[in-house]
Amino acid sequence: MLEIKNRIQASIALGEDKILIGTDTFIPLIKEEEIQQRTRELGKQISIDYASKTPVFIGVLNGAFLFLSDLIKNVTIDCEVDFFKLSSYGDGKITSGRVKMLKELSCNVSGRNILIVEDIVDSGLSMKFIEELIAPHKPASMKIASLLVKPNSLKYNVKIDYIGFKIPSKFVIGYGLDYAQKYRNLKSIYVLSE
Ligand code: IMP
Ligand code: MG
Repeated sequence: MLEIKNRIQASIALGEDKILIGTDTFIPLIKEEEIQQRTRELGKQISIDYASKTPVFIGVLNGAFLFLSDLIKNVTIDCEVDFFKLSSYGDGKITSGRVKMLKELSCNVSGRNILIVEDIVDSGLSMKFIEELIAPHKPASMKIASLLVKPNSLKYNVKIDYIGFKIPSKFVIGYGLDYAQKYRNLKSIYVLSE
């Protein structure tokens, strides 16, 4: 797993392509090629770990849709895909502290090997909510993959089995991650610069 340190100052120093949103400036944090490279590594590892199993990848909408689609393209074993839709951020830059279920699963998780796929784990509240939702249905196993984790923001005790990148506790957009529902289509990940 890669730790993203000192990127913010470096990015400012290089004067890389900034994104201005109102009075906010976002600067590059993780480039498209790095995301793709890390996603290939995770797909390979998951294929090894789940060899001879048929896991169900459960994407958490909306944020995880790009990561999930790139991840499963790098998985070489049989797998199934389903989605949850949760909302915790509303349109702001900090979590509302409440999780709402907007779309339930359609698959039966009982006896299955479940891999939950998230874009980012911040406080861990959403992950805790999902774990508590799935556990009573008795899956054969349940693991978590998250492209990004903000280790210094974690407030709930969740174990993230596959981590793409550990990032500072700052607001990020792009590659599925939104600000007021926009900017999910950016190919790289950008961070709010203060
Ligand atoms: P948690 O429940 O506090 O762990 O927050 C998880 C959810 O909040 C993620 O699935 C994202 O949808 C959203 N989120 C957390 N941090 C960010 C961010 O920096 N940018 C955009 N969305 C975020
Ligand atoms: Mg999410």
